[in-house]
Amino acid sequence: MKTFNKRTHTCGELRTSHVGQTVVLTGWVDRRRDLGGVIFIDLRDRYGKTQIVISGKEDSRAYEEAKTLRSEYVVSVTGEVERRPEGTENPEMATGAIDVRIRELSVLNKADTPPFTLEDDADVSEDLRLRFRYLDLRRPRMQKNILLRHRAYQIVRAYYDRLGFVEVETPVLMKSTPEGARDYLVPSRIHKGKFYALPQSPQTYKQILMVAGFDRYFQIVKCFRDEDLRADRQPEFTQIDVEMSFVDEQDVYEMTEGLMAELFRGILDLEIERPLRRLTYKEAMEKYGSDKPDDRFGMTLTMLSDVVAKSGFRVFSETVAGGSIVSGFAVPGLANSTRNQLDGLTALAKSMGAGGLIYMKVTEGGIESSVDKFVSPGEKQAIVERIGAQRGDLCLIVTGPWQKTLSVLGALRLEMADRLNLIPHDVWNLLWVTDFPLLEYDSEEKRFVAVHHPFTSPKFEDVGMLDSDPGKTRARAYDLVLNGNEIAGGSIRIHDSKLQSKMFTLLGIGEEDARRKFGFMLDAFRYGAPPHGGIAFGFDRIVMLLAGEESIREVIAFPKTSSGLSPMDDSPSEVDQKQLDELGIGRLKK
Ligand code: AMO
Repeated sequence: MKTFNKRTHTCGELRTSHVGQTVVLTGWVDRRRDLGGVIFIDLRDRYGKTQIVISGKEDSRAYEEAKTLRSEYVVSVTGEVERRPEGTENPEMATGAIDVRIRELSVLNKADTPPFTLEDDADVSEDLRLRFRYLDLRRPRMQKNILLRHRAYQIVRAYYDRLGFVEVETPVLMKSTPEGARDYLVPSRIHKGKFYALPQSPQTYKQILMVAGFDRYFQIVKCFRDEDLRADRQPEFTQIDVEMSFVDEQDVYEMTEGLMAELFRGILDLEIERPLRRLTYKEAMEKYGSDKPDDRFGMTLTMLSDVVAKSGFRVFSETVAGGSIVSGFAVPGLANSTRNQLDGLTALAKSMGAGGLIYMKVTEGGIESSVDKFVSPGEKQAIVERIGAQRGDLCLIVTGPWQKTLSVLGALRLEMADRLNLIPHDVWNLLWVTDFPLLEYDSEEKRFVAVHHPFTSPKFEDVGMLDSDPGKTRARAYDLVLNGNEIAGGSIRIHDSKLQSKMFTLLGIGEEDARRKFGFMLDAFRYGAPPHGGIAFGFDRIVMLLAGEESIREVIAFPKTSSGLSPMDDSPSEVDQKQLDELGIGRLKK
């Protein structure tokens, strides 16, 4: 095998202090310029780029070889560092004050012409990028993202280690744990007809580790959920999973805020203000129409039910009398919207699930609305005043059931902020949402389901309601929200096997079923389970936000496409009949 000169420096390292030294650099040809008689090469590795100069006069062999170089060839060069002639320095490049004049050049490997240029702003389809991910990952932006992710791992590990947390790996082949999504199943060859599930999260294991006395646990762990994909969702993703014994919410908040402070400091050199703001779920919904509120801009919602309860307009009064709500918000400066634009907004609200959209324009000449025929000027005035709208604003009002109405308004609020460019991109808005409902009614399944998961404890003061009004019971659950993204969620757990069994009953999981699915956990809880609680961070989402990216795919080395495919290795793919036979799996004829 051909040997080569090993590098003495990286391509990001040389400065004027190195002038005169003989160095060896290795890397990829980023760009080659042939000026006839002298060839310039930008040599690239992950540390940076260095300009290489090969002059025909000085070394014709190296020069002849350099002529054959193409982009992405892998080379080793030996030469002398020189100061660039005055006026030719490149202040944009860290190594821009020097170049390396070559004495020896060896091509370590040739490269085919890449299917796209490796510049950051190249317009390349995601499919192509993922098919040639090794090339895509050479782009500076991707290198930066992956290195940022690496830094974040190190900060997380150092933080928890320093605070006495124990890193424990939990199984990837496990028994199905309900986290609300579908499981990925793995058939067992030895136990035909039986399946492992890939973890949706290590929830049961981390709780059992508390029973085992580890007291403080963390893990940076892959989780798998077979759900519909979005920009912030992947079928496999990474959590920072944390659990602590003998704690309440306050301990989890402090520990979590400490980690966020270190991530912001270590990665963005920013201090965050602590303690973070806390909003209850009810407040978040009623003010922002979302359980992951984005508070980087205004246009908050205002409850109008009491203002319109006695209205002569039956849509208002009957909605309120029926236990539903009326709420709205003001969009600044849109009072001059055209009929067409307002029709568009109404259609949008309907597509989001609203029955309709009522608007009120606060104009010079008074309040013009879509309900002028039914609502008196005084009432319109009262509504506009309650919303706090100014002249020139457009008020958007929706009526209906609490959850749906607020969610529609929340989505409209985000849409309007986006259209009007109201979201500042240099502001960090980090907050807690607490006191989530414990259960929600699934009308399709005709039973209650856990909002967080079945192991979440109800609030002490609400335990009595589990029998009388389960839907109203609040949970000791919390989410951490960054710029309108849910970046972590957790809860204080049930540690009493009787209460846990009761919870399963409420969720419509019969005793036998509960034993079959969670018997191991109920058993563990009979042997001295400490009070415990924890949280899990969506690591990809945190890295995405810190990197200023819009999709978690940009911060995952080998992500799946939005339809769950990996174009590089072509997974998922067919398997051999022999493999299926061994697993005892037959194919259904379509
Ligand atoms: P939860 O289901 O809220 O909690 O998940 C925790 C965090 O993981 C992130 N996340 C995802 N990120 C990318 N792709 C996905 N498909 C995806 N799904 C979730 C979110 C979320 O906040 N075991 C509990 C935690 C606990 O109770 O301690 C759990 O998994 O950022």
